[in-house]
Amino acid sequence: MLLLGIETSCDDTATAVVRDGVRVLANVSTNQDEFHAKYGGIVPEIASRRHAALLSAAVDDALTRAGTPLAALDGIAVTAGPGLIGSLVVGVAAAKALAFASDLPLYAVNHLHGHLFAAFLERDEPPPYPFLALLVSGGHSQLVEVASPTALRILARTRDDAAGEAFDKTARLLDLPFPGGPALDALAREGDPKAFAFPRHRPDPGTLDMSFSGLKTSVRYFLDSPAGKAARREDVAASFQAAVVDVLIDRVHRALDEGNYQALVLSGGVAANSALQTAFRALATRRGLPAFVPERRFCTDNAAMIAAAAERRAAVSRTDARTLVADPNLPFC
Ligand code: KG4
Ligand code: ZN
Repeated sequence: MLLLGIETSCDDTATAVVRDGVRVLANVSTNQDEFHAKYGGIVPEIASRRHAALLSAAVDDALTRAGTPLAALDGIAVTAGPGLIGSLVVGVAAAKALAFASDLPLYAVNHLHGHLFAAFLERDEPPPYPFLALLVSGGHSQLVEVASPTALRILARTRDDAAGEAFDKTARLLDLPFPGGPALDALAREGDPKAFAFPRHRPDPGTLDMSFSGLKTSVRYFLDSPAGKAARREDVAASFQAAVVDVLIDRVHRALDEGNYQALVLSGGVAANSALQTAFRALATRRGLPAFVPERRFCTDNAAMIAAAAERRAAVSRTDARTLVADPNLPFC
């Protein structure tokens, strides 16, 4: 299928044209960082208004870049949730109107399912099922068993902050600019990951759940202490990052001990993190499994992954353009 993807769940106004869930003919993303930066975080009302202002042009842009008229499409895929309701409704309303006016099928996609299939964009190998996915974004941290495109099972989740949220909050403690994750990643590259031993959360018996809020608090207390005031920020960033990576890799390791998987898949905005990518690939090699890591442009929010998930889950994602409603709390399964 040739699908137009639309993603407006948070602060990226993203559109894409994707063939067969793999070939990306156009991938357009208008980042709103400059509008949110002075507030130090995403302001939902601003995000929603920017989507409304930009989306129509972003759709035209993707179709033009792909050299595809609307009439040549086989369908429209849109993120229906989870996310910010004011942002989601802009994409959903646009997708419904386009599908209805052009008589095209409409596919509703869970944003997190999009992340799960991002690593297979522009790759020739099909996903080897069952695979184990580590999905780490600004809003979610979870381990998912993917037995088929429609058989998904969450094995572990975060008890509090998501990994990306921990990066963003710790970046603020370090006075880094918004968005914090990439800035902290860059600073950490200049630091010593062993300089400070921040706590690594251990799972309670019988669960693989993770927690990052204790780590963030420990960095805050450290930075307020005399030792912290004298510490190099690069070393604090690298040591914090090493603790996050250790916890994530520990959970993947434990999940591999408990199940049989054909591959390891990394996804979500934090998948762009260089230290996490290195540790993830090393773990896959140790366990003799192929590692699928998305191209950087497909790690953070994008619409190509939404079209990819719609295609792979076509049997269940097809919906009705007259009745689709955005759901900020759309369940994962
Ligand atoms: O998937 P995403 O674009 O949006 C959500 O669905 O949440 O993820 C955004 C998150 C933010 O918390 C951002 O700081 C984090 O991903 N992130 C990173 C890096 N790039 C983005 N975290 C660590 N290192 C990075 N290089
Ligand atoms: Zn996301």
